[in-house]
Amino acid sequence: MPLVDTKKMFEMAYKNGYAIGAFNVNNMEITQGIVNAIAEEKAPLILQISRGARSYASMSYLKAIINVAVEENPDIPICMHLDHGDTFESCKQCVDDGFTSVMVDASHAPFEENIKITKQVVDYAHARGVVVEAELGQLGGIEEDVVGVSAEDIHKHLTDPDQVVEFVEKTGCDSLAVAIGTSHGAYKFKTAPKLAIDVVQEIQEKLPGYPLVMHGSSSVLKEFKDLINKYGGAMPDAMGVPEDAISEAVKLAVCKVNIDTDLRMALTAKIREVFASSPAEFDPRKYLGPGREAIKDMVKHKLQILGCAGKATECM
Ligand code: G3H
Ligand code: 13P
Ligand code: ZN
Repeated sequence: MPLVDTKKMFEMAYKNGYAIGAFNVNNMEITQGIVNAIAEEKAPLILQISRGARSYASMSYLKAIINVAVEENPDIPICMHLDHGDTFESCKQCVDDGFTSVMVDASHAPFEENIKITKQVVDYAHARGVVVEAELGQLGGIEEDVVGVSAEDIHKHLTDPDQVVEFVEKTGCDSLAVAIGTSHGAYKFKTAPKLAIDVVQEIQEKLPGYPLVMHGSSSVLKEFKDLINKYGGAMPDAMGVPEDAISEAVKLAVCKVNIDTDLRMALTAKIREVFASSPAEFDPRKYLGPGREAIKDMVKHKLQILGCAGKATECM
């Protein structure tokens, strides 16, 4: 089957209490690791491309790699999604390039401006059969002991449940990325990890049936953190979102869970391990291969956490 959008995926994910994994791709090995996992687990898939990925690998290479993944897996629904489009023009470019879903992230702008930019993207994308994810609130950790920041101030950065109905009605966006205490990268929390699950519940009450998206959802798996630190890396304070919190969120309205850092750490850990244990090795296949295998195993594990393993057919 050709590339799909996320409508059916989110409909089934919402109804059956699971989420679709949205994994960032930057090169062939990362893509193959992810796709080999979903092929074995028969899971629906969102492959997402950031602006950074576009400029690193070029769109034509990434698209060619994804086209092969789609052709080789006709029994799996695969969506090609723009991650964090920052302007109308960058979203338009991706719609024109054949993406089946785009994210417009105007969350840095004031509320009315966010609505205006998002609506502009929705009008363009919907006219061409492409779905749109938008963002409201700012990602960032909720920490118990942040010196000088009151609990109310922390909550100012989270998505305000009182704004969601107006935002979704005025923009027509198909899904909404919410800020509930996660952040991008490997250093999400300084103290005990904490997510505002109550914010998800409140939004769900105001927008029943509407799919939400969790960014910054890597868990910073101990296995890879330990390997990186053992073999010359320096990530002692890395900390991610606990997987039980993700399992909790996907039973609510969270239908898409974004994972990039865990892919990067799996690949980096295996490359470091090969370099340390076989210092004479200089064949890239000998270190990228184990990296790709580690990504596959890690993604298979994530599909269980998200609950989407075995759900490919019902999402078609
Ligand atoms: O949103 C963040 C993703 O991890 C993409 O990161 O912009 O470095 O490709 P990137
Ligand atoms: P992580 O950095 O937690 O993997 O988040 C990725 C992400 O949200 C991409 O949009
Ligand atoms: Zn993100």
